[in-house]
Amino acid sequence: MCITIARLFFVLSAIVSLVTTPASARISRRAGNGKAVVAHFMVGNTYPYGVSDWLRDIQLAASKGIDAFALNLGRDPWQPARIADAFTAAKSAGGNFKLFLSFDMTSLPCVSPGDANLIQQYMANYTTLPTYFVFKGKPLVSTFAGEYCTFGQGGLDAAWNYAIKSRSIPAVNFVPSFFVDPSQYPSLRSVDGAFNWNGAWPMGGNDLDFSSDQGYISNLGGRIYMAPVSPWFFAHYGPNSYNKNWIYRPDNWLFAARWEMLFDHRSAVDIVQIISWNDYGESHYVGPIEGAQPMSESWVNGFDHQGWLDLISYYASAFTAGVYPSIISDRMFLWGRLAPRAANTNDLVGKPTRWDLTEDTVWGVVHLASPALVTIACGTSNISYNLPKGRSKMKLPLTKDCDVTGRIVRGKTVAVDFRPTNYHFTTRPTSYNFNAFVAASVPSRTRADLDCGMGY
Ligand SMILES: *[C@@H]1O[C@H](CO)[C@@H](O)[C@H](O)[C@H]1NC(C)=O
Ligand SMILES: *[C@@H]1O[C@H](CO)[C@@H](O)[C@H](O)[C@H]1NC(C)=O
Repeated sequence: MCITIARLFFVLSAIVSLVTTPASARISRRAGNGKAVVAHFMVGNTYPYGVSDWLRDIQLAASKGIDAFALNLGRDPWQPARIADAFTAAKSAGGNFKLFLSFDMTSLPCVSPGDANLIQQYMANYTTLPTYFVFKGKPLVSTFAGEYCTFGQGGLDAAWNYAIKSRSIPAVNFVPSFFVDPSQYPSLRSVDGAFNWNGAWPMGGNDLDFSSDQGYISNLGGRIYMAPVSPWFFAHYGPNSYNKNWIYRPDNWLFAARWEMLFDHRSAVDIVQIISWNDYGESHYVGPIEGAQPMSESWVNGFDHQGWLDLISYYASAFTAGVYPSIISDRMFLWGRLAPRAANTNDLVGKPTRWDLTEDTVWGVVHLASPALVTIACGTSNISYNLPKGRSKMKLPLTKDCDVTGRIVRGKTVAVDFRPTNYHFTTRPTSYNFNAFVAASVPSRTRADLDCGMGY
């Protein structure tokens, strides 16, 4: 019999809410309280994908509380076929998980009026499908960049009015990520909202705060605000390839801290977009390492990030529901770089810009079903705290070669003995790999909880 106390409480509260909530409110709750969590998906990395690959990603993302993929698409002639497959997969997944178009204007041409044809074809082909993401009553269409597009028109607003609004049937909500000063938004009437791409990371040595979001919100005048959240940023392309070799500072549990900030300001945030599902080149992927990497193998292989997915599950649920889920399993989420920032190597690409702004640290998020003594250790250094039920953060600075481990102890009982494979910090790295190593312990639950499929 599958009834734990937590389950019983869940069932009882559902019954109570059925009795006390008016029908209209129940409907809006099913629609996510007017909130959504989506993830940025690089179609450019799917050259070898078939429908079953899309289906696997869709099912995994849906199981972690993600509502939709923003399909970042560019000019490659094979991309329309992948997008068709993606919609086929979304349909066969049952239709609850949605997709929407995010035109990558650093790839697609946008100079002449004819350049709008492909964009209009995409919208005509997909925005009316039942698996297309609808937000505030209309299909949502987004971009990456596009602030320099003209489509042969006079000025930015006219350009996008022409490309998106003039011939789009049905009408869409256009929510681009233009890299412009947000003070331009009051005069940009072609847009129905904005996505603040660069708001995901601190651009200097500071911690992120809500000020960049506030700059958007106060200029959008009630239009849709899509806020970014990203766990990391490291690209390592030399001058002979994309010439893009930098980090944004991810310190002080950026990913968790950002989600908590968005929860605290959720009345002003409509959509959270996770950057990204599969952008390997910039090291902020949270999905599995699949498809065709953009020449990023040397810093991506061996650095699976799926440990972050269950943090997404927890925070996405909190963001859409307006209340944090109760924590019923002990878990440790540990991440960080595998070498000191100051170590020197023969790596010809050189150290990434801003390398000196980040600490050599294990960033730990701990979820406890009840109070416990929690330790993060590496070699002879360790840190221990008595922590309460719920979520906490801990960090351990690293200086010597060592293996990172974690422990959760209650009295004499070791509830979690976490020894992640390959979480090895070395003072003698062979390249400047500033990607994150991510480890999450399996949920430690009671037998009854496991039988009931409880926890997130
Ligand atoms: C849109 O659909 C038409 C008709 O099926 C097809 O010829 C065209 O290639 C599609 N375009 C895109 C961008 O999907
Ligand atoms: C933690 O470090 C102290 C010394 O600072 C050491 O005595 C102790 O054994 C360490 N504990 C663990 C769990 O590594």
